[in-house]
Amino acid sequence: MRQPLVAGNWKMNGSLDSVKLLVDGIKGGLGSVTTAEMAVCPPYVYIPQVAGMIEGTGISLGAQDVNDQEAGAHTGEVAPAMLMDIGCRYAIVGHSERRSIYGENDEFTARKFAAARKAGLVPILCVGETLEEREQGITEQVVARQLDAVIGLEGIGAIGECVIAYEPVWAIGTGKTATPDQAQEVHAFIRGKLAGLDSGVADKVRILYGGSMNPGNAADLLAMADIDGGLIGGASLKPDDFLDIGRAGNA
Ligand code: 13P
Repeated sequence: MRQPLVAGNWKMNGSLDSVKLLVDGIKGGLGSVTTAEMAVCPPYVYIPQVAGMIEGTGISLGAQDVNDQEAGAHTGEVAPAMLMDIGCRYAIVGHSERRSIYGENDEFTARKFAAARKAGLVPILCVGETLEEREQGITEQVVARQLDAVIGLEGIGAIGECVIAYEPVWAIGTGKTATPDQAQEVHAFIRGKLAGLDSGVADKVRILYGGSMNPGNAADLLAMADIDGGLIGGASLKPDDFLDIGRAGNA
């Protein structure tokens, strides 16, 4: 059985005060989340603050991105070992906003994935198609290409030690969620593709859905056979909504 993972991607939001309120709120209701692993991915600067607040709670900590290099002259970047140092377990790589706004391609994403693993982090690899690509009927090709870049560099075994997040770009921050059937179709495609290479990896890897997931649609999405949790943007900034989504994963 794959334990559901409900991870909050706070994106570029927060302040010292709001982070305190948010984390206190999540901690306050955590007892009602019986099954899912809960994780938060704050902006880099707030990670130490959050690390201190969640100690001993079972909440996991992640970063929203990571550099592909170990150290050195990379102004503005954060190395994987630094994230380990401050208590992170996860690092998101290849989020669609990194790909579309900052021009990060499949190869760079794969290198980030490799660097994160090498340092001991669990990468959360984001894949997903744009609206245009969906309308062209090439969703599976796009997702396969994004996965293949990582499998080509790191091998199929590495996928068994990461988390995949399917985030259709057209559903992110738009309020337009993929229907449970639409999401399940792509999740099943991903798992089937992995099963063709290694059935053990396919059985083990958690595939999260991301894109306007909220308390109203979480239970139906999480009920699908191949949806093992969520990567939550907007709704993860509200403790009650984030906890509601976590509870939707209760067995
Ligand atoms: P929203 O939940 O705000 O649509 O964001 C999803 C996302 O991009 C999570 O990484």
